[in-house]
Amino acid sequence: MSDPSEISEPVVSAAVAAALAAIAAVNDSAALKTVRAEHTGEASPLARLNALMRSVPGDQKAQAGKLLGQARGAVAQAFAARETAITAAEVAAQLAAETVDVTAAATTWQPGARHPISLLQERVTDVFVGMGWEVAEGPELESEWFNFDALNFDEDHPARAMQDTFFVEPTAAHLVLRTHTSPVQLRALLSRELPVYVVAPGRVFRTDELDATHTPVFHQVEGIAIDEGLTMAHLRGTLDHFVKAMFGEEAKVRLRPNYFPFTEPSAELDLWHPTFKGGARWIEWGGCGMVNANVLRSAGIDPEVYSGFAFGVGVERALMFRNDVKDMRDMIEGDIRFSQQFGMTV
Ligand code: DAH
Repeated sequence: MSDPSEISEPVVSAAVAAALAAIAAVNDSAALKTVRAEHTGEASPLARLNALMRSVPGDQKAQAGKLLGQARGAVAQAFAARETAITAAEVAAQLAAETVDVTAAATTWQPGARHPISLLQERVTDVFVGMGWEVAEGPELESEWFNFDALNFDEDHPARAMQDTFFVEPTAAHLVLRTHTSPVQLRALLSRELPVYVVAPGRVFRTDELDATHTPVFHQVEGIAIDEGLTMAHLRGTLDHFVKAMFGEEAKVRLRPNYFPFTEPSAELDLWHPTFKGGARWIEWGGCGMVNANVLRSAGIDPEVYSGFAFGVGVERALMFRNDVKDMRDMIEGDIRFSQQFGMTV
């Protein structure tokens, strides 16, 4: 038996053998760290033997030093080799776990795009909000009274006829899909304190066949202003600012006499469109006028004290002449490529 407290060949070899066996048995870097502490740390057999060097007699110091040095070198080398192998295996395992199959079908989301009709409608609305107007909304399923009667339409007005209006069953309920945004005029007057300055963007419905220039569902923006002393000059000034904000400083408005039951006088709203593709020109865009006294009375407003103006414009139509869209069917097909070309602003 060799004395473990002396630096002898058998004792040193045993310590080295124990270390090499432990190193060989280790398979991951965490365990290697533990084994390293056990076999080279302060409390390890080799460290303890090293501490004995101080008490080795002078003539044996060289021999013992060499023995220990070789032993520690062998153990250190074994650690280094094992560490290299374990690190390589661990990196390989990690790479295998994180492998990306570049041939797999992509599951990423295609970024969407807001529809240009929504963007343009918001832009129109913003111009009026910028003038201090409020935004109002009304239902798409509307009572016949709001859609026609309160707006001074005669009982036998052609717009009520079956070919224009979607009547909704049961007929006794007198409901229609609103044919224009004008009923919101009345709703705004009934629900707000005077003076009223509101814009009402929204969806409207008519029994038109879908083709390049008609769709049964489309959008309008309505405006109504009721105050003391409002005149046709205020209507013109407002519309003038509106078209300049939408179509540039060169744009202007022309009013041509026309008939609408809910305004008197009424006018066709034409727009001078300076950047029309193919050359600047007049374009019919909507209707307007001074709110009919009968409409004010429907809302319980005294026409002797208050007056005001109203207008309505088509959003699809604006997208067609402003952005050179030739076929309305492109607007409703839902093809993302149509919307994407307009970007985030129209
Ligand atoms: N509601 C009308 C339409 O759909 C457009 C319109 C004309 C609205 C004159 C108005 C107006 O407010 O004053 O054809």
